[in-house]
Amino acid sequence: MRTPIIAGNWKMNMNPEQTAEFVKAVKDKLPKATEVESVIAAPAVDLPALLENAKGSELKVAAENCYFEDEGAFTGETSPKVLKEMGVDYVIIGHSERRDYFHETDEDINKKAHAIFNNGMTPIVCCGESLETREAGKAEEWVEAQVKAALKDLTAEQVSNLVIAYEPIWAIGTGKTATSDQAEEICAVVRKTVADLYDQGVADKVRIQYGGSVKPANVKELMAKPNIDGGLVGGASLVPESYLELVNFND
Ligand code: 13P
Repeated sequence: MRTPIIAGNWKMNMNPEQTAEFVKAVKDKLPKATEVESVIAAPAVDLPALLENAKGSELKVAAENCYFEDEGAFTGETSPKVLKEMGVDYVIIGHSERRDYFHETDEDINKKAHAIFNNGMTPIVCCGESLETREAGKAEEWVEAQVKAALKDLTAEQVSNLVIAYEPIWAIGTGKTATSDQAEEICAVVRKTVADLYDQGVADKVRIQYGGSVKPANVKELMAKPNIDGGLVGGASLVPESYLELVNFND
């Protein structure tokens, strides 16, 4: 019932030429977006090249961040209004790298979620615990609190369309994937949190991704879990061959 969504998060990698090469290599080999949605989230400087080359293909385009105001004196920020005008579909918000290195707060992330919906795009809201929090036995309550804060005052209709990415920080870029059972356990907590805040109907519609060292070798097992509807993939999304293996996990 939920369309799987596999999103590459390029982080601060790739330039416009590399972006064009990448899209040319993958665009004719992607699954139908009605069966599996293939998304690439690229740095703002690469979005024009990504959008131009992805035109007419099944590839959807995401920004890796944006600001919560549409315009004004906010030096260095990216306008959600302009992202929409350019043709961007999704915006990642609340990635742990942005929370940790750039001090983004739950309140910022919630404001960004509203701004993205108000501009007709869909947020991919990230959540996830540190190793310390997990070892203290507090992963579930941590993620639940992050999800509640990010969704504050969003409507049921908005949340039905939302994507939430569960990314345990200890599994990002470490080669250490959460086991599919560990990933499923917290993705189920995310869905239950949405059910408690809204209702089961909304929770059944929200799409939940797992992120953290997802690669062709483990994508199938993760995607087989009932509460995992997709992946948010860093390193393995930078190479066309492995990206294609990820989005075509059903083949
Ligand atoms: P890796 O797939 O490189 O572990 O990165 C995960 C991630 O942070 C995606 O947003």
